[in-house]
Amino acid sequence: MPVMSGIESAFCRSTPWRSFAGRIVLPWALDGHSFTGDVLEIGGGSGAMAAGLAQRFPAANITVTDVDEAMVNAARAQLARFAAVTADVADVTSLPFAACRFDAVMSYLMLHHVIDWREAIAESSRVLKPGGEFLGYDLTDTRLARWVHQVDGSPHRIIAPDELINGLLGAGFTRITVRRAVHGHVMRFHAHKPAKT
Ligand SMILES: C[S@@+](CC[C@H](N)C(=O)[O-])C[C@H]1O[C@@H](n2cnc3c(N)ncnc32)[C@H](O)[C@@H]1O
Repeated sequence: MPVMSGIESAFCRSTPWRSFAGRIVLPWALDGHSFTGDVLEIGGGSGAMAAGLAQRFPAANITVTDVDEAMVNAARAQLARFAAVTADVADVTSLPFAACRFDAVMSYLMLHHVIDWREAIAESSRVLKPGGEFLGYDLTDTRLARWVHQVDGSPHRIIAPDELINGLLGAGFTRITVRRAVHGHVMRFHAHKPAKT
């Protein structure tokens, strides 16, 4: 089920975006962190970030999900060369995975398309193992972001950094960092599901 406008969908599947996302955005978003084990990317689009993850972390098993079947098909085509990567249709507000399944959940530029973004965060927490990491980046509540999405017509709910922190706290995350970047237009976030004591 597509949730973005045709223009934005085409942009996310385009070669320039895929190249920019993998070479420039991903290293910035990862902020020096590395991963092994089971990694879930929510709203993974055409697999631009997942391809970069698979190249950087060959020991990780990566599951890419998106609610839009056309995106998942594009991701499958792009990611077929990586044996440890699978792509599936899934709505982040109702993930088809058992609790405590993943070591890390990643969310790149997708939360603002999920009107019920708090449920997306709650689901990300549920499928994480204790001690697991939730990280990513998103747009912030700037006039430009609101204007672009109003013109473009994609359903959206732009999140302010304070709202995101409160949402992460509400979902039980700890050690939360949310930092604005790129002149305040985006925010990078990182949080942990508490380890069992
Ligand atoms: C702006 S694109 C970003 C795609 C990818 N993360 C990237 O960086 O190239 C946002 C993606 O989120 C997906 N999406 C929106 N709502 C979703 C939901 N409820 N569950 C899963 N994916 C969703 C869209 O279909 C789209 O592929």
